[in-house]
Order: sequence, then C-alpha cells, then structure tokens
Amino acid sequence: MPRTEVAVIPGSFDPLTNGHMDLITRTLSIFDRVIVGVISNPAKSCLFTIEERMALIRGCCAAFGDRLAVGSFSGLLVDYLKQVGTLVMVRGLRAISDFDYEAQMALINKRLSPEVETFFLVAREENSYVSSSLVRQIAPLGGDVSKLVPPLVEAALKRKFFGDSAT
Ligand code: PNS
Repeated sequence: MPRTEVAVIPGSFDPLTNGHMDLITRTLSIFDRVIVGVISNPAKSCLFTIEERMALIRGCCAAFGDRLAVGSFSGLLVDYLKQVGTLVMVRGLRAISDFDYEAQMALINKRLSPEVETFFLVAREENSYVSSSLVRQIAPLGGDVSKLVPPLVEAALKRKFFGDSAT
C-alpha cells in the first residue's frame, strides 16, 4: 500500500458531536493531516445544510490550523478519497452494534477500490452513547446537549430550534 500522511474522516456530521471531535483529535495524533469529508446528499433531509455542517466543523476545529481541512462529496466515497489524494479513511466504532454496518461499508469500499483502507478507532467510553441522531432528538425538546456537542454546535442547535433570542 502506498504510504500516506493524509486521512479522510467521512460522514454526515448532522451535527458534529464530541465523539466526532475525539475521532478527529486522535486521527491527527497519527496522521499529519485530516480531511473531514462531509456528505452532501440532496435526497437525504438533514437538520443542517451542507454549508452549515461544514461551517460548524471549521469553527470547532479552528485550533488544528492547516492540518485540518473540511470538504464535501456527493458521489462514491472511494472516488472522493482519490480526488483528495489519499487511500485511507478513519471511522469511529462506538459499540458492537456499529460494527455490522461499518464492516459492510468497509468491505463494499474494498470491493469498489481494493487499494482503499478503512481504519477504525474505538470511541472513548464517555462518548460511546453519543450520536448525531440522539442529539437531533434531544435538542428540539429543550434537553441539555452540552455534554454531547461542542459549544458552537450547541448554540447553533438553540438558534435552529428556538430562534436567535435563545443564544
Ligand atoms: O456519518 P454517517 O452518516 O454514518 O456516514 C456515512 C457515509 C457518508 C460515510 C456513507 O454513507 C458513504 O460513504 N456514502 C457515500 C456513498 C458511497 O460511497 N457508498 C458506498 C459505501 S457504503
């Protein structure tokens, strides 16, 4: 396999969570640069637009400087990897229940493009139950998401559901 210094972390990021932040931080401790690849799928209805999701990631990851870039893709993930010049992606595993889907995805991607490798990092215990979909359920009901998402995302959720006066 060709050596690479760049890894892509792909996903929906609707929205970015503390679990994603941990995955990004730990991937940056292994690879020189990380590209967060946000899927732009007009057929799938997302809470945040592609521009909003990317802006939140940029805002929350500003401290990483130019070691981190945020991009978007709408076709096959393996094609996006090649487009940005790497063959490595990193995904997080929270629980055994993630494994089935993640293994399927890794195997399909391997079949589509045998040179692409998927690396998995196991989520920290405190993030093992954190997911964007749980955040999307809790936030509109006024639940506290401050332990689940970065402060910028928490503020964006408040604005989204309760208007500008909420933040
Ligand atoms: O954060 P998510 O929603 O679990 O991310 C899923 C994502 C975007 C990584 C996956 O749906 C994807 O790679 N979509 C692009 C289409 C593709 O390449 N499909 C083949 C592999 S499943």
